[in-house]
Amino acid sequence: MKISFPSNFKWGVATAAFQIEGAWNEDGKGESIWDRFCHTPGHIERSDTGDIACDHYHRYPEDIKLMQSMNIPNYRFSVSWPRIYPNGKGAVNQNGLDFYNKLVDTLLKAGIEPWITLYHWDLPQALHDEGSWPERKITDYFTTYAETMAKALGDRVKNWMTFNEPWVVSFMGYHEGVFAPGETSEKRALQTAYHLMLAHGKAYSAIKSIHSDARIGFTHNYLHYHNLGRDEKSAQLINYKQHESNGIFLEPVSLGNYPEIVLEQNANAPTVHPDDLKVMNQYDFIGIQYYFDVLVANGEWSFDKPFPIYKRTEMGWPVTPVGFYESIMSFATEYQVKDIIVTENGSAWPDTLSPEGNVFDDDRQHYLIDHLYQLRRAMDDGAPVSGYFAWAFMDNFEWKHGYRPRFGLVYVDYGSQKRHIKESGHLFSKIIQEKGFECIV
Ligand code: FCB
Repeated sequence: MKISFPSNFKWGVATAAFQIEGAWNEDGKGESIWDRFCHTPGHIERSDTGDIACDHYHRYPEDIKLMQSMNIPNYRFSVSWPRIYPNGKGAVNQNGLDFYNKLVDTLLKAGIEPWITLYHWDLPQALHDEGSWPERKITDYFTTYAETMAKALGDRVKNWMTFNEPWVVSFMGYHEGVFAPGETSEKRALQTAYHLMLAHGKAYSAIKSIHSDARIGFTHNYLHYHNLGRDEKSAQLINYKQHESNGIFLEPVSLGNYPEIVLEQNANAPTVHPDDLKVMNQYDFIGIQYYFDVLVANGEWSFDKPFPIYKRTEMGWPVTPVGFYESIMSFATEYQVKDIIVTENGSAWPDTLSPEGNVFDDDRQHYLIDHLYQLRRAMDDGAPVSGYFAWAFMDNFEWKHGYRPRFGLVYVDYGSQKRHIKESGHLFSKIIQEKGFECIV
């Protein structure tokens, strides 16, 4: 039986600036909150940093060649804001613009369509010091930065994502304190979430006014809560969490509302202005990013409690492909998203490089196939999904876990910076060429 995808379906791979570029202080780049976070002891496993990462800043021509050899038609990457504005605002660093200009031109020459994320977490440290995302004025600085990028690249780049995973930015960065900038205030987290969506709307208008043919969205890590305990306490928790984790981002952008339940039940909720909701309520597509279900039992949710029935990745995340189907269906029905693109999906496993330079990553291949199968099921059931981007093109800096977890379709030997296509990379390339895969039933 063949599982096939439409011929205009957009296949691609994704990365993010901080995770691959390196060159953290070269050619006039400013410091980001992730540079500061990594350089402060105790935050990152083995004290890894993004200083060199995959050295993509210098090796991008080879990386693009490799992508081309894998038949990859679309590439999602992010722009480092402090490379463009070392202080977040004020004078533009021409070297930064030059880098992304060259990157885009090289991609287009290779027949690869660029998809840009403007914010994949590396806020200029200078703007953090000025008050950070909880202060409303930052939405103007972000809009100016978006405008600058649209003017510089919008003649060639048609696909834009304002923010990557605003939930992670707000809650992991400002509430849980485990990601940069490492704060622990629920109030500031919810204020951040509100300003991110406001900045999304403002940037949407700004980019459109420069290039009306641009297609603009943001990407959301859908938190799919699974009531493993099937208990009432968990059901109640999920009912609230669904809105706090997904509703506060998807509702304003897709439906023009802010979830009432959060305003009623959380004293730290922001003040919502109706005019802001109008600004937020603009998009052409919304990216869904899915890795695993959040398991809930006895009224407690957890990312990494060992529920033994699930196979776990190197991140400790359970493998739950059916949750991917359900998440996409919720995007389509509950939030009525009119164009959905899977902008990230993938898994980390303890890969080993054979002496011949191969990586036989069966687990990653199974994960890929199982998730594509569920994606196709959601499309059959009416979900308007137009693309799938695998995370990640190559192994990279996995935030607080440093270089231990490997998510790539391409293996990176960090010592020599040599790249090796994994078996999953060859498989993905074949799926793209054949617009699907054979399934033995
Ligand atoms: C997502 C991030 C991405 C990567 C994957 C594994 O939350 O957007 O940068 O770290 O997880």
